[in-house]
Amino acid sequence: VQQTAFAASSEQINPSIKKDVDKVVDSVSPKDLGGKPQVAYCRCWRSATFPLCNGAHVAHNKATGDNVGPLLVKASD
Ligand code: FES
Repeated sequence: VQQTAFAASSEQINPSIKKDVDKVVDSVSPKDLGGKPQVAYCRCWRSATFPLCNGAHVAHNKATGDNVGPLLVKASD
């Protein structure tokens, strides 16, 4: 039996971000990097600066044993 990585759950992943919309969708274009070599985008749904990472994943991982981290978008390699 093949297991999927996602286990159905009634718990919500997103505790507080844009709860007034049906689906939170963000897009990124190169100009959003503002000339920075890279920008970190949140994937833990705990950042107060969502969709940008503010390091909140560190406390989340420590409290829950989870292993989530940001998506790094780089201007170039
Ligand atoms: Fe969410 Fe860093 S704060 S991934």
